[in-house]
Amino acid sequence: MSAVHAPGADAAELAERRWAWIVAGIIALLVVMMVFTGLHWASMPPSRVEVVDPRTLHIRGEFVEDNLGTSVDAQGKVTVRLVAQQYSFTPQCIVVPADTPVTFRGTASDAIHGFVVGRTNANVMLIPGFVATFTTRFPRAGELLMPCHEYCGTGHQGMWARVQVLEPAEFLRQAQPGKAVSCVPR
Ligand code: CUA
Repeated sequence: MSAVHAPGADAAELAERRWAWIVAGIIALLVVMMVFTGLHWASMPPSRVEVVDPRTLHIRGEFVEDNLGTSVDAQGKVTVRLVAQQYSFTPQCIVVPADTPVTFRGTASDAIHGFVVGRTNANVMLIPGFVATFTTRFPRAGELLMPCHEYCGTGHQGMWARVQVLEPAEFLRQAQPGKAVSCVPR
């Protein structure tokens, strides 16, 4: 009996062919997904890119120390400004009103940082030289943790802040026109 006609040789070849087709099919599917997502996402408007000079953050402009924290403008729009650095956020405690749109504007002074707030959808990367911005709404009052979620160095695991979500009336009592407010971490 020659090797070509060994028992099971035909079955083995059939199985090999079948698996080769399955693998080729998976690769083809992945390529189609890459092309689809590439074209689909490229057709959407890119997010706005805002730049800021990380060397002057603390000296002038929007991110000077006494402009950090939460402010309310004349139209009632709530904006939180913050800076991340190794290994803390400024401010370390952020106060926001519940059930109100809150716009975050943040950047980093040294390395890439990021944060997530509790289990909300507030989740962003902070990159030196760029202003990250997003608007969210915190459904109910309470205190939330805000850890850094980008590995930024040896102190990364100790880098976090708190977010105090207050009832809107209580927040407005603390918010003073033209002044950024923050809370004292407990
Ligand atoms: Cu900052 Cu990790």
